[in-house]
Amino acid sequence: MKTFLVSFIIALSCNFSYSQEITIECNFLYTRITDSSTSAYLCMLSKQQISATATSIKFTGNHQSGKTDASVLGFLITDCNVPSFNYVLMDAMHSQFPNIKYIEVFASNVQEIVPGAFNRSANSEKILKVHFLFNNIKTLADGAFSGLTSVENFRFVSNRLQTVSEDAFKGMKSVTRLDLQYNHIKVLPKNVFKSMFLLGSIDISNNLIEVIDGEIFDGNEMLQYIYISYNQIKAIGRRFFAGLYQFNDISAYNNLCVSNTFRYREAAMRGFEKCFDNYDILFP
Ligand SMILES: *[C@@H]1O[C@H](CO)[C@@H](O)[C@H](O)[C@H]1NC(C)=O
Repeated sequence: MKTFLVSFIIALSCNFSYSQEITIECNFLYTRITDSSTSAYLCMLSKQQISATATSIKFTGNHQSGKTDASVLGFLITDCNVPSFNYVLMDAMHSQFPNIKYIEVFASNVQEIVPGAFNRSANSEKILKVHFLFNNIKTLADGAFSGLTSVENFRFVSNRLQTVSEDAFKGMKSVTRLDLQYNHIKVLPKNVFKSMFLLGSIDISNNLIEVIDGEIFDGNEMLQYIYISYNQIKAIGRRFFAGLYQFNDISAYNNLCVSNTFRYREAAMRGFEKCFDNYDILFP
């Protein structure tokens, strides 16, 4: 009886720490990553569970002949369960594969991108392309992509995204193409795209946006193509086109104050008059 009692107490008060080291099987292969015309040698993970509490991760797998970890140019994570995309995962990728340039996370139930996930390794600065497609990420917090200073092609499509914090994309100064379509975004903070001064194309179609601040693209002077169709837009600030000297084309079908596509800035400004008027009425 006494022994039982003692061990019972120990079990209760024991603050055991355990480390979760996990090994994940890579399928090393040449394959395309979305939108690439060329193939790259990638580590493809599929049907794998990557625990949010893993403390260290090691990748294994059989390389194709003549290839080594240093030949791996990217990750394709598809059909996995990766609830938390964090620095443990990124550090593991970078330390084992020093030449990663591409990351695509497709239908893998990612629910959060932990701020700081990408800024602990200097190698994050070599990443050129990041795609999160068909995940379950409702919120992007400030600093979510901090460290991704060289990413040019950034797609964040069909992730059920509702809230983008103002500094979520801070530091992403090389992005030329940004895709945020097919999410549930209602509001875009005024300064959310400020870091992206090379931005040439933005797609925020198929969201739930109602009002757009007129200064949303201040600082995006290179912007040529804008896609905002299929939102609920009823009002846009009058300065919306003001700094867009390279403007080429806006696609704005199926909104409340506009439903059309326009080429040339002057034509677009005329076509958006109702949106501007509504904005003036809403925010006199
Ligand atoms: C990394 O990003 C996080 C989140 O924004 C931030 O708190 C941290 O200071 C950053 N660290 C470095 C080394 O930049």
